[in-house]
Amino acid sequence: MKVTVIGAGYVGLTVGACLADLGHTVVCAEKDRARLARLREGTVPFYEPQLPEIVRRGLGGGRLTFSGVGEDAADQSQVIFIAVGTPPSADGQPDVSAVDEAVRVIAPHLDDGQVLVLKSTVPVGTTDRIEAVLRHDTGAHRAVACNPEFLREGSAVADFFHPSRVIVGTHSRAAAEVLTALHQPLECPILVTAPRTAEMIKYASNAFLATKVSFINEIAAICEQVEADAATVAAGMGSDPRIGPHFLRAGIGFGGSCLPKDVRALAALAREHRVTPSLLEAVLRVNDAQRQQFMEKVEAALGGIAGKTLAVLGLAFKGGTSDVRESPALDIAGRLLAGGAVVRAFDPAAEEGAAETLPALICCPDAYEAAEGADAILILTDWPDFESLDWKRLRKRVRTPVVLDGRGLRVAASAIDEGFAYIGQGPPKAR
Ligand code: UDX
Repeated sequence: MKVTVIGAGYVGLTVGACLADLGHTVVCAEKDRARLARLREGTVPFYEPQLPEIVRRGLGGGRLTFSGVGEDAADQSQVIFIAVGTPPSADGQPDVSAVDEAVRVIAPHLDDGQVLVLKSTVPVGTTDRIEAVLRHDTGAHRAVACNPEFLREGSAVADFFHPSRVIVGTHSRAAAEVLTALHQPLECPILVTAPRTAEMIKYASNAFLATKVSFINEIAAICEQVEADAATVAAGMGSDPRIGPHFLRAGIGFGGSCLPKDVRALAALAREHRVTPSLLEAVLRVNDAQRQQFMEKVEAALGGIAGKTLAVLGLAFKGGTSDVRESPALDIAGRLLAGGAVVRAFDPAAEEGAAETLPALICCPDAYEAAEGADAILILTDWPDFESLDWKRLRKRVRTPVVLDGRGLRVAASAIDEGFAYIGQGPPKAR
């Protein structure tokens, strides 16, 4: 099948390259000329494991090409995915101007055999609105569908090839058949719904994930007061299949370009329809509070942060990505700098983005350089590498052996063995 993907960002590039890897002929259209040039060379402009080799395989095999977002971008494609950004606007609802612009450019060139698919996360009702716009502008019915993505940054390729479900929201039988055929090889449940239902599944899924994180963070706060071990509580809860073990790791909270934005958007939608989003607002409040609670732990452990040197391990919003959008780690690093601390930071992939936001960061090539002369080590991103640090080596670099773990990693025993005071969920631990 010939496919066009408009928008070669985190989602569009992954979807386009993986569809090409499945054997389809894919054109990825990107309006940013600099990014387009890098993509044509086979360079992926962000950290995403496995994606570079898939992009290069598609380019080499002639199944993946990159173009500008011109009128011809959708020519001869049976399916046109719109995967452009929908960043939050002031009222909490996503800004869909890039989606509308993409539709405006290709609408005159759509014929009735083509299916236009919204892959971007869009407010409930957008697919129906665009279908009506197309009918008005072209005078003919055009098949439009919503096909939300559930790709996690850092495991997007694996999530594409092994989805737990595919959601197709459309009124068009033809669109449903084409998208079902396209996703058939992924061998997972394919749920065809009305467009609004598909759009809501996306928001409700992300909002529930965020709710689980804020829930376990609130439970961890209670555990700390009653001397229960939060990680063990999470394990005990998660063994119930109705609860599940995932998204129950307490820490400094959720970030990224999706969960915070989608919870805010859903709450805004609720208010717009005079439904009080009590739970969604609580999820956001609890999440925001995690950062301040962590800052208070740092202040208490050091007797204040002004003039102190802190080694920050992790700047990305989670391990496995270079993305610092709404990163709790970056937020805390900024609060430390604002409080007069010197911040020596290391992140395996996110330093460039972090340094743009916080030029005062002292970016270090590894954790051991970051620890040089530090009054404390702060673990703020769950990079797997941080669970195998050499604490004997770190002990020789720090000024005082204190580690505050904001992500509940498995480091306490190793750090304590080397003489560190470990502060995480629950009472401080030391040898
Ligand atoms: C999310 C959804 O998982 C994905 O389905 C959707 O398509 C896009 O948004 P992503 O934003 O990449 O994916 O991150 P995710 O893995 O969901 O983590 C979100 C945040 O929650 C991260 O900041 C992470 O550190 C935090 N988190 C996650 C926790 O604090 N505790 C957990 O137990 C799990």
